[in-house]
Amino acid sequence: MSGVSPMTELLETLSPHFGERLSVSDADRDEHAADVSHHDPARPQVVCWPETTDEVVRVVNACRDLVVPLVPYGAGTAVEGGVVATAGGLCLDTSRMNRILAIHPRDMDATVQAGVTREQLNARLEEQDTGTFFAVDPGADATLGGMAATSASGSNSVRFGTMRDNVLAVEAVMADGSVIRTSGRARKSVAGYDLTALLVGSEGTLGVITEVTLKLAPLPTAIAAAVCPFATIDGAVDAVIECLARGIPLARMELLDEVQMDAVNRYSGFDHARQPTVFFEFLGSESAVVEQSEAVGRIVAEFGGSDFCWATDEAERERLWQARHDGYYATLALREGSIGYVTDVCVPVTAMAECIRRARQELVGCSVPAPLYGHVGDGNFHVVFPIRPGDAAELAEVRRISDAIADHALALDGTITGEHGVGLGKRHLLEREHGPGVAVMRVIKQALDPLGILNPGKVLPDVVAAD
Ligand code: LAC
Ligand code: ZN
Repeated sequence: MSGVSPMTELLETLSPHFGERLSVSDADRDEHAADVSHHDPARPQVVCWPETTDEVVRVVNACRDLVVPLVPYGAGTAVEGGVVATAGGLCLDTSRMNRILAIHPRDMDATVQAGVTREQLNARLEEQDTGTFFAVDPGADATLGGMAATSASGSNSVRFGTMRDNVLAVEAVMADGSVIRTSGRARKSVAGYDLTALLVGSEGTLGVITEVTLKLAPLPTAIAAAVCPFATIDGAVDAVIECLARGIPLARMELLDEVQMDAVNRYSGFDHARQPTVFFEFLGSESAVVEQSEAVGRIVAEFGGSDFCWATDEAERERLWQARHDGYYATLALREGSIGYVTDVCVPVTAMAECIRRARQELVGCSVPAPLYGHVGDGNFHVVFPIRPGDAAELAEVRRISDAIADHALALDGTITGEHGVGLGKRHLLEREHGPGVAVMRVIKQALDPLGILNPGKVLPDVVAAD
C-alpha cells in the first residue's frame, strides 16, 4: 500500500463497517472543529459516530495501527480548546453512545454510555420516579463522558463535589485497544492504583471513556433561591466563608461582580442592582430550607448584604438560575460578535477575596470588558473577556492579564484551573503549577499512549527541544 496516505487507509479500513457514521463532509468537519471558546478552530479530517464500546475499540485500533490522531468529542461545550483537532485526524463523536445502561435508585448510582447528557439522565431519573438526581451541573447540557474526561464541576459543587467526587467508575478503551473498567459500584475501593482518578480529568489524552458509573443524590423535597447584593466583594466573600464555617449545607453560592450583573440584567431582562451579588440555592426538606434561608439572611446582614430576598416559586427560581447558566453568553453579548477568553483560577476560600483583589488590580486599564464571576463557595472564579476574533493585540493583552491572575492564584496556594481543564489554553501554565510533576505526567502519557495518538497536543506543554 505504499504511497497511500494513512488517512486514505483509515477510511478504507473503517468505512465498510461505519458507512454513513463516518463522514468527511465539510459541514461535519466544521461542526467538530471547535468548542465555545476563543481557541482557533482546527478541523478533523474525518468524523466517526460509534455506538458501542466494540466500535470504539475498532476505531482506536485503526488509528493506532495507522498512527492517526484521535480526538474524543462530547457536546463541544467546553472552553479550553480540548476538542480542537490541532493535529487533524479523526474526531470520535460520542453522541450516538446515548444509552442509559442501568439505574440503581437504592444504591443511588447509574451507569451510562459516554454520550448521554446530564439532562437526559436527569429526565430519565425523574420519569422513572427514582427519587434521585445527578447533581454535577456545569451549566451546559454536556455529555457525561465529556464531563468525566474533563472532571467538570460548576455551580453546585460546593455541596455535591466535582466529577472526581461523583464518578464511581469508568469504562475506557486504552490506546492499545484494551477495554478496562476501573471499578465496580462499591462506594469504597482501595484495590490497587486509582485508575478512575487517573482517567477522570485526563481530557481524552490517556484513554477514550466509553461508559461512566455515577453517584446520584436524593431528590430534595424543597428548593429555595435567594439573591443578595453586597456593598463590596469582600463583604460577599466573607459572608460566604461564614456560611461554610457554620456548616449551612448550601447547594449553590455564586458570586457575580457588578460588571457581570449588568451583563445579566441586559441579557436576561432582570433589574437587579448593579452591585456585587451572591445567588444562593437551598435544598432539603421544607423546614430545612426555611431554616437555612433564615440563617443565611442573618449572616449576609452582618456582612453588608442588603435586600436579601428568597423565593421558592419554581418559575422565579428557574429564571434566576437560567440567568446564571447563561452568564457566559451574557458576557459575550456585551460586545457583538465577540468570543470568550476565560480565566478559571481556584484558591482556598479564605484567599479568594485577596485573589479577586489582585485580579482586579491586573484589570485596571484593560481595554476589554472584564466581568468576574464564579463559584465562590469553592474559591473558583472566572474573568471572562469577550474578545474580538482575530485581534492579535487584544488576545495578547488578555493573555498577559490571565497569566498574571494565574500567578496570583499559585502564590495563594491555588490552581491555574479549577474546572475548565488545561486543554490548549493553560498548557503553558502547567509547569508553573506542578514543576517536576509534569515530568511524571509525561511518563504516564508515554506509557499509556506511546504513539501519542490520543488527543495529541492537549494538557501537556510542548517540549522545547534542547539546543
Ligand atoms: C461558568 C463557566 C464559564 O461558570 O464555567 O459560567
Ligand atoms: Zn464556572
